Amino acid sequence: MSNMTKPTLQQSHGPAYTRIYAVGAARGENAVPNADLVGPIDSSDEWIQQRTGIVTRTRAGADVSALDLATESAREAIEKSGVAPELIDLVIVATISNVQQTPSMSAVVADRVGANPAAAYDTNAACAGYAYAVAQADALIRTGVAHYALVIGAEKLSDVVDPTDRSISFLLGDGAGAVVIGPSEFPGIARTVWGSDGSKAGAVGMNGTLTEFRDGAAEWPTLRQEGQTVFRWAVWDMAKVAKQALDAAGVSAADLAAFIPHQANMRIIDEFAKQLKLPESVVIARDIATTGNTSAASIPLATHRLLDEHPELSGGLALQIGFGAGLVFGAQVVVLP
Ligand SMILES: CC(C)(COP(=O)(O)OP(=O)(O)OC[C@H]1O[C@@H](n2cnc3c(N)ncnc32)[C@H](O)[C@@H]1OP(=O)(O)O)[C@@H](O)C(=O)NCCC(=O)NCCS
Repeated sequence: MSNMTKPTLQQSHGPAYTRIYAVGAARGENAVPNADLVGPIDSSDEWIQQRTGIVTRTRAGADVSALDLATESAREAIEKSGVAPELIDLVIVATISNVQQTPSMSAVVADRVGANPAAAYDTNAACAGYAYAVAQADALIRTGVAHYALVIGAEKLSDVVDPTDRSISFLLGDGAGAVVIGPSEFPGIARTVWGSDGSKAGAVGMNGTLTEFRDGAAEWPTLRQEGQTVFRWAVWDMAKVAKQALDAAGVSAADLAAFIPHQANMRIIDEFAKQLKLPESVVIARDIATTGNTSAASIPLATHRLLDEHPELSGGLALQIGFGAGLVFGAQVVVLP
């Protein structure tokens, strides 16, 4: 390279800001009441309602996959966004319940919705997966690597529940929520506060590996949790993360129109509201009562319902926070579409 000039690599630059254009949703078609689940776990409708706020959860039939739910929610989000699907050049699916390790759900969804040949990948950050994917889409658009992104949280958790497990199975539901993200005239997605604590990996996750299952050393792997450990972590550490996300956005609780936490447990949601000192004017997402905990899908599903029930929230600020297996967490303030 002695007397040759070293070429300077070109770098891309995108728009200064991004925002969420529209939300789509698909819930499992069956409403499963507590009464249907209590037998094998020696529980009761009353206990589940008091301890979790869940009355029924949505679950999909045997012929509907997480991929189908993802596709349905994506189609709605794209249609509402007004963005032509062929302009979408990034598709991220956040999920922990794809039944195949490869190919990804995202590449297939991209093709199904008319976004082929968009860059497409799945991301596994459990119940924080949607917040992680929103952070990625925002950053990739602002650096000019992508122009329009489809972000989906999609889960069929009923595939990974053990009906005899009383630690988590009764919490879980099936569904998918999708958003289209693109350039904006104003900041529509504030800086994400995210992170992990792998020292608590054992607090929630699968109870076995696929190779153990293959070798007959374990049952079909299903979700388990140390409920109290996760509960305490959520109410103490995650309330702090939620406050950091407000600081990162340069806003206060009183500026919010809505609070959309991961739908893990109604008592956790209530505790967050108390610790964040949310004024009465802030509408709190409580989709868990009839949808259950749908992991990566829970925040976009709750957002979809909130906008259906309170269309006046459109354009307002929402604080969203996801947290779960890893442990991992992600939170950001967004402008509601
Ligand atoms: C799972 C969870 C609902 C359990 O509620 P909890 O109030 O912590 O319950 P505990 O484990 O303290 O148990 C309290 C009592 O209920 C009983 N119990 C536990 N699970 C039960 C169930 N499914 N049905 C009925 N009783 C149950 C316990 O045996 C205990 O009985 P005891 O007081 O006679 O000893 C709660 O811990 C939780 O929601 N955790 C966090 C969930 C979460 O955010 N997960 C994130 C991953 S997505």
